[in-house]
Amino acid sequence: MTDAPLSLQDFTSLLSQFHGEAAPAIDAASDADALEAVRTKYLGRAHGWLKDLSAKLGQLEKTDRAAAGAAFNEVRLRVEATLETRRVALTPARVAGALADPTMPARRQWTGAVHPVTQVIDEMIEIFRELGFTVALGPEAESPWYNFGSLNFPADHPAMDLHDTLYLADDLVLRTHTSPVQTRTLQGYAPPIRVLIPGNVHRRDPFDASHAPTFAQVEGLVVDEGITFADLKATLTHFANRFFGKTKTRFRPSYFPFTEPSAEMDVLCGVCHGSGCGVCKQSGWIEILGSGLVHPAVLESSGVDSEKYTGWAFGMGPARTALARHGIPDIRLLYDSDVRFLGQFAK
Ligand code: PHE
Repeated sequence: MTDAPLSLQDFTSLLSQFHGEAAPAIDAASDADALEAVRTKYLGRAHGWLKDLSAKLGQLEKTDRAAAGAAFNEVRLRVEATLETRRVALTPARVAGALADPTMPARRQWTGAVHPVTQVIDEMIEIFRELGFTVALGPEAESPWYNFGSLNFPADHPAMDLHDTLYLADDLVLRTHTSPVQTRTLQGYAPPIRVLIPGNVHRRDPFDASHAPTFAQVEGLVVDEGITFADLKATLTHFANRFFGKTKTRFRPSYFPFTEPSAEMDVLCGVCHGSGCGVCKQSGWIEILGSGLVHPAVLESSGVDSEKYTGWAFGMGPARTALARHGIPDIRLLYDSDVRFLGQFAK
C-alpha cells in the first residue's frame, strides 16, 4: 500500500497549525519544568510533533520538497526562538542581572565558635581526663536536701545565706552550686570515684561586673581509700600549671560546710605576673577555686563509710577563669552573647 502524496498546501497548513499551538503553549509555561514538558511535546527529537512533520516531508512530491523544507525550517527556527526567549524569561539570575555577575564577591560564610567559657570547661575536662576523671552531670532543679542538707548545711543555719537561693517551690530550688552532684555521684557509684561535674548554677545575685545570676561551675570529686590533702594540692597544682602554663599557686584557708579543712587556690595573675594590676585588684593573685577534704558527714549522708574512705573536692567558676585568662574586666561581656565581642576568642 502506498500513501497518497501530500500536497504542499496541506503540509504548510500542518506547519501553521503546529506553530499556532506550540508558540502560545511555550509562552504559557510558568516554570522550567513546564517549559521542558512543552519542549518535549513539540520539539522533542524522539516523539515531538516537529519530528512527525519532518517525517511527512518524505510524503511530498519531489518537486515540492525544496519549498516545503524551507517552510519547515522557518517554522522550526521561529518556535525554537520562542522557546529560548521563554527560557531566558524564566531564569531568575538572568532577570536580576546582578546575580549573574561572576565578578561579585561571595557573601562571607557565617561560622560559629566555641564560647570562651565553654573553652575553659572543655580544656579542664581534657586535663582531668588524663588523670582518670570522667564527667558526671546532675539536674539544675534540685531538692533543698541535695543542694544543702546532704552537704552538711545545718537546717536553717546562716551558712545557707552564703548562697542567695532561688526557690521554684517549697521543696525545689535552682541549685546554687554543682556540689549536689557530689551526693548524687556518691549515691550512684562505689569508690574509687574521680569525676568532673560541669554545669550551670543560679543565685539571687545582681547582674554586675563580677556577678551573673546564672553562671557555670566545674566541680571535681575524688573519693578513695587513703586520700589526703596532699592529693588535693598536687592535683590542683598540676591542673593550674597545665591550664595556665607554668605558674605559681597558693592555698588560703577558707570555709565550706561540706569540706574540712577548706582552702581557696590562687594563681599568679596572668596579666601582671604578680606585680599588681587592675585585673587582680593590685594583689598579684587571682582566686581560681574553692576546695577541701570531703567532710565525713557528706560521705555518711550518701551511705559511704567515712572510716574507710576519704576524699577531696573543688569547685571553680570557668567564667571568672576566662575573665582572668583574657584580661576581660566585666563578666557581663561573657554572658551578654554579643558575637562581635565573643568572636574575638574563637580558636
Ligand atoms: N560549692 C562551692 C561554691 O559554690 C565550691 C566548692 C566545691 C568548694 C567543692 C569546695 C569543694 O562556692
